[in-house]
Amino acid sequence: MAIQFNFVSSMLILVLLSISSAEGQGGEGGGGVIDVVAKFGAKANEKTDLSKPLLDAWKEACASTSPAKIVIPKGIYFLSTATLDGPCKAPIELQVEGTVKAPADPGAFKEPKWIAFNRIENFKLSGGGVFDGQGTTAYKREGCKNHDYCGSLPINLRFDFLTNVMIQDITTKDSKQFHVNVLGCKNITFEHFTISAPGESPNTDGIHIGRSDGVNVLNSEIKTGDDCVSIGDGSKNLVINGVTCGPGHGISIGSLGLFKNEEPVDGVTVKNCTMTNTSNGVRIKSWPGAEPGTCSNIHFEDITVTNVSSPIIIDQKYCPWNKCKINEESKVKLSNISFKNIHGTSALPEAIKIICSATLPCENVELADIEITHSGPDGPTVSQCSNVKPKVSGKQNPVACSAPIPAKPTPAA
Ligand SMILES: *[C@@H]1O[C@H](CO)[C@@H](O)[C@H](O)[C@H]1NC(C)=O
Ligand SMILES: *[C@@H]1O[C@H](CO)[C@@H](O)[C@H](O)[C@H]1NC(C)=O
Ligand SMILES: *[C@@H]1O[C@H](CO)[C@@H](O)[C@H](O)[C@H]1NC(C)=O
Ligand SMILES: *[C@@H]1O[C@H](CO)[C@@H](O)[C@H](O)[C@H]1NC(C)=O
Ligand SMILES: *[C@@H]1O[C@H](CO)[C@@H](O)[C@H](O)[C@H]1NC(C)=O
Repeated sequence: MAIQFNFVSSMLILVLLSISSAEGQGGEGGGGVIDVVAKFGAKANEKTDLSKPLLDAWKEACASTSPAKIVIPKGIYFLSTATLDGPCKAPIELQVEGTVKAPADPGAFKEPKWIAFNRIENFKLSGGGVFDGQGTTAYKREGCKNHDYCGSLPINLRFDFLTNVMIQDITTKDSKQFHVNVLGCKNITFEHFTISAPGESPNTDGIHIGRSDGVNVLNSEIKTGDDCVSIGDGSKNLVINGVTCGPGHGISIGSLGLFKNEEPVDGVTVKNCTMTNTSNGVRIKSWPGAEPGTCSNIHFEDITVTNVSSPIIIDQKYCPWNKCKINEESKVKLSNISFKNIHGTSALPEAIKIICSATLPCENVELADIEITHSGPDGPTVSQCSNVKPKVSGKQNPVACSAPIPAKPTPAA
């Protein structure tokens, strides 16, 4: 559900472009290990704001001409908000061993972010720690009518314009909005990354990726209320391998084709992933009518689905909240898309839906070794296709494109 993100990120880009990055000053040499408690008086008492000690430690580490590591030791901390800016003079690591908690009150945030990392090269975030967004109150959407913050709830972790980054052994919990937003990054890897939020939490996408080249999400566990991973325009060379997803809405490309000047999505491999109790498995979605775009070289391979409502879905009539011109066709061109070795069970009979644009039919779609069963009073699984002639090989259960197509656009978000 990456709609709001597009507005927010465009605004963010403008803001970022107009602010010159804060460069560290002084601090010849330096480096080494900087403990926020020992050196900058941070307190693990859940009350004292970690913001100033963290920013002070960041300033020193970022100015160091040799590699530096900031440590947040074990304990529970309160952090109002923090933006950690580069560029830094040498590689930098933030090792979080403790649990860092956000203000529970959604009204405490002026911008849609809690912790942001901005314009840093050679950065590592590690340590086994937890970022707890304390989103429970925000999920109820109470008081939205009287305040405007519900439209700009904070994202737990923002990674903006970063290069050569490793994020390892970190947990993000109960974010009020998306857990993670990746924008304008090059070569960033998430490994042993854990995301947790209730299945009913609204708009809590796990990792949203946009305008980035070389993003890897490896051996990670995502339980949340919206897409586990959502991929927006301008995403290139993505690898998602060894991710377990559920509850959640699956791994999703799009929605595409809503905004002007969207950049191509090119090169996404989703492999060796497991989805359990999710509303979708692997999905590509674009809006009818609206704006042009392209999405190509997308490979879904070795995926296990268990009780997933829509395990395989291309939806070029994506139209939640009736926000589109229903009778128009999508202007987003999809090509070179494969689904290989996808097996398990679906919660609904419609296991496979490949609904492409009538004006720009999907090109070079491949289905190989598909085995998805459904047992229920509503019959076995079916496979629906429109405006696509997939290349089929190996086992096919249900038989590829054997069912009549639905007449109506899909209303579900
Ligand atoms: C990508 O980033 C990692 C750090 O996470 C670094 O070790 C690696 O060399 C980078 N790759 C390239 C091609 O720069
Ligand atoms: C597949 O994913 C699991 C984690 O779910 C990981 O442990 C394993 O190494 C992955 N296998 C390959 C071949 O990447
Ligand atoms: C899937 O949902 C069922 C029913 O709500 C639940 O019993 C089961 O534990 C869930 N499985 C996972 C892996 O969350
Ligand atoms: C399957 O998922 C549905 C919701 O999509 C849930 O109601 C049901 O309990 C789940 N069944 C099992 C066996 O996990
Ligand atoms: C699709 O794949 C073919 C063969 O690998 C390649 O030549 C073509 O450039 C690809 N199309 C796009 C749009 O990338």
